[in-house]
Amino acid sequence: MRFFPVLSVLVSLAFAAASAKDDYPVNAKGYSGVIKAKRSLNILLSNDDSWASANIRATYYALKTAGHNVLMVAPAQQQSGTGGTVNLPKQATLSGPGRGGSLPQSAPYRGANASDPGLTYFDGTPAACTLFGLDQVVPDFFKGKAVDLAVTGPNEGTNLGPFLYTLSGTLGSSYVVVERGIPAIAFSASTAIRDYKTLNYDNASDESIIIAKYTANLVSTLGDSQSHEKRSNPEAGVLPLGLGGTVNYASGVGQVANCSKANWIHTRMTGGAYIDRINIGSNGLPQYENIVAPGLNRCLSGDCSLPGEQDSVNKDKCAATLSIYSVDYDAPTAAQHLLKHRVDGAVKTLNSKSGKPKSKRSL
Ligand SMILES: *[C@@H]1O[C@H](CO)[C@@H](O)[C@H](O)[C@H]1NC(C)=O
Ligand SMILES: *[C@@H]1O[C@H](CO)[C@@H](O)[C@H](O)[C@H]1NC(C)=O
Ligand SMILES: *[C@@H]1O[C@H](CO)[C@@H](O)[C@H](O)[C@H]1NC(C)=O
Repeated sequence: MRFFPVLSVLVSLAFAAASAKDDYPVNAKGYSGVIKAKRSLNILLSNDDSWASANIRATYYALKTAGHNVLMVAPAQQQSGTGGTVNLPKQATLSGPGRGGSLPQSAPYRGANASDPGLTYFDGTPAACTLFGLDQVVPDFFKGKAVDLAVTGPNEGTNLGPFLYTLSGTLGSSYVVVERGIPAIAFSASTAIRDYKTLNYDNASDESIIIAKYTANLVSTLGDSQSHEKRSNPEAGVLPLGLGGTVNYASGVGQVANCSKANWIHTRMTGGAYIDRINIGSNGLPQYENIVAPGLNRCLSGDCSLPGEQDSVNKDKCAATLSIYSVDYDAPTAAQHLLKHRVDGAVKTLNSKSGKPKSKRSL
């Protein structure tokens, strides 16, 4: 394996990319059942498990099989649990070898697969990868055309509920893209931690390939149903401006023995969702335990009649949940009313003469 700085690879292999579109593993036997999209999207693909994860590679080829243009910009190393943190490289070469020996530590902080310029890595957190991708890789790769959608994951493990929403790098790399004004959907699955080298793209029973197919089919179905309004209209695009999606696949979805198909459910993030409780383990060190806590599960915004993600996967091992979020984290009007009177009162008191501190000393 040889690695080149991404720029020279992008230039020298731009032609190869165009002609490689129908090359294996695109359209491999495992991808039978992938829906051909009517509308081809420019997709930025990332994750937090690294560019060497089986799930992201399987999804890259599933999306290409559907007819989309895909650029992967994913972390060189495992970056789980980093949420929306933006850590950029501090040196010209990698801070450590790529996951599973996929890159030597001497490789540049950014680079591409030697035979496919659409498969790139970046030595940063997941959110840094998608932001770097949008500004430094996308313009050349999509030749000035805009990204229609960012897809992140599918994560090696589910990310259910609001606590995981803030914590997960799969979600973090996704919501920063929504904040930039581009639709994004994060995908998380109950799949094994696996290297892409273990994939057999002809195996329709491979869990990463099954999950990749569901992922591509959701993307194409939503893409084909998008509004045809002009881009300047905030409702145009795969998702309206400021909204994102998060998908979780329940434990049986990746296994043909358990689920002949996924049961898609429109869900919400609260509802049986977990947060951590910290215990001291038998080794004397703190460890976390999942608990259902009330603050995390009060429905304050959105449609409270929708089932919770966690509740849904607990009930149905073939569930594929789709929740829609907004990056406007303010409490909605109905919830503001619960506190409006007291907040307005406190603001008034603090701004009145008597409410101000009398002297510096009293601070
Ligand atoms: C580069 O991509 C080819 C397929 O195009 C694959 O066989 C090879 O393992 C990849 N290497 C890395 C490090 O991604
Ligand atoms: C296909 O994947 C399934 C599920 O992981 C596995 O049991 C089977 O051995 C695989 N078959 C081949 C030919 O790789
Ligand atoms: C899937 O099916 C296998 C074989 O029947 C079973 O052992 C396994 O527990 C099932 N997995 C889930 C998540 O239900």
